[in-house]
Amino acid sequence: MARIVVKTEKLPQEVKPGDKSVWICKCGLSATQPFCNGSHMKTLDEPEGKMFRYENGKRIEVEVKDKQ
Ligand code: FES
Repeated sequence: MARIVVKTEKLPQEVKPGDKSVWICKCGLSATQPFCNGSHMKTLDEPEGKMFRYENGKRIEVEVKDKQ
């Protein structure tokens, strides 16, 4: 079984479990989940209204036929 999960956030979430901040990935691209590794920088110039997948560091536009 497989599934597609859509992430719309472009920036991480800061949490402070102790004295230091930890940045949690909300873009879905980090290879060090659940922590941000800076990969969200690739998403910052994504045009609104379009959808993309990322593969081997490359952005590929996805055609969406059914948005339900
Ligand atoms: S928020 Fe996903 S890598 Fe930073």
